[in-house]
Amino acid sequence: MQTLNITKPDDLHLHLRDGAALASIVNHTAAQFTRAIIMPNLRPPVLTTAMALEYKQQILDCVDEQYSFEPLMTLYLTDNTSAEEINTAAKSDFVKALKYYPAGATTNSDQGVTDIRKPTVALEAMMETGLPLLVHGEVTDNSVDVFDREAVFIDKVLTPLVKDFPDLKIVFEHITTRAAVDFVLSANANIVATITPQHILLNRNDLFKGGLRPHNYCLPILKAEDDRLAVQEAATSGNAKFFLGTDSAPHERKNKETGCGCAGIFSAHIALELYAEAFDAIGKLDKLEAFASHYGADFYGLAHNEGQITLIKEAFEIPETIAFGDSVLVPFRAGETSSWQLKK
Ligand code: NCD
Ligand code: ZN
Repeated sequence: MQTLNITKPDDLHLHLRDGAALASIVNHTAAQFTRAIIMPNLRPPVLTTAMALEYKQQILDCVDEQYSFEPLMTLYLTDNTSAEEINTAAKSDFVKALKYYPAGATTNSDQGVTDIRKPTVALEAMMETGLPLLVHGEVTDNSVDVFDREAVFIDKVLTPLVKDFPDLKIVFEHITTRAAVDFVLSANANIVATITPQHILLNRNDLFKGGLRPHNYCLPILKAEDDRLAVQEAATSGNAKFFLGTDSAPHERKNKETGCGCAGIFSAHIALELYAEAFDAIGKLDKLEAFASHYGADFYGLAHNEGQITLIKEAFEIPETIAFGDSVLVPFRAGETSSWQLKK
């Protein structure tokens, strides 16, 4: 049986929600990852360091005592985020970044940034203190085709942003296109990207295979095969600019299987297994450890985790549903098999 030992990994992009939902899902991540960058798109959003501290404690209260798990917190950037708030965040040892949602781009982004030229004082303070900006890179203009929103964002928003704030550390989150890969490769060392399992494993045909597939709907939306190939190549290239961020984003089943379903794929139950399968499929398992356990930590200035985990190439069945608050969610690969599994 094939096995793979790697340094304990980190998930550099994760949605945990709050309340009962949080309690029901956080241990799927804690079982796999030592640390995770926690997204702030709650209702209301996590706007201040004080709110992030409270949220961090809420998360820790739900983590099973068999796990040691460290939530790395983020704040939600708005048009009005002050330099003072940035300085407070930078002085804390638990706020690691600011998240930039273009207003209206995705789940709980309505209080996001309406124009990236508005929070200039915050961006300047971030440059000075070294706090990274995590970017949801899609324009929201309804005249732009949904499949083109990332590429247009690069031209209209990201390129000018990098020019105006050359020392700003930027994580281009959940990249999905060849254009994004090329942009990150051609940019300076401050610009890196996270990659999800779904954007390596699926293309947009998977949204329509035999019928409409709401559980494969996430934002940024799945792209064409050529884009998938570019993202797969970047993730498995051994380039430290690309690292693991699942974007696992749980939604209750009834909010996915409905006339206007939410965006988000829940993958936390088999995150590492999915990446292992994707890397294995093209003979790049030797590149998994650095992608999952080194490059992200290095970018955030964190020590590598101590200890190892073991992945085994042995198929197992994924349940049809997973508990979520007082309801259920439909996880990635529901009712199918995973070809790798994490040794418990
Ligand atoms: C995320 C969510 O549900 O919070 N959804 C998603 O499709 N990825 C928000 C986000 O990261 O865009
Ligand atoms: Zn996300």
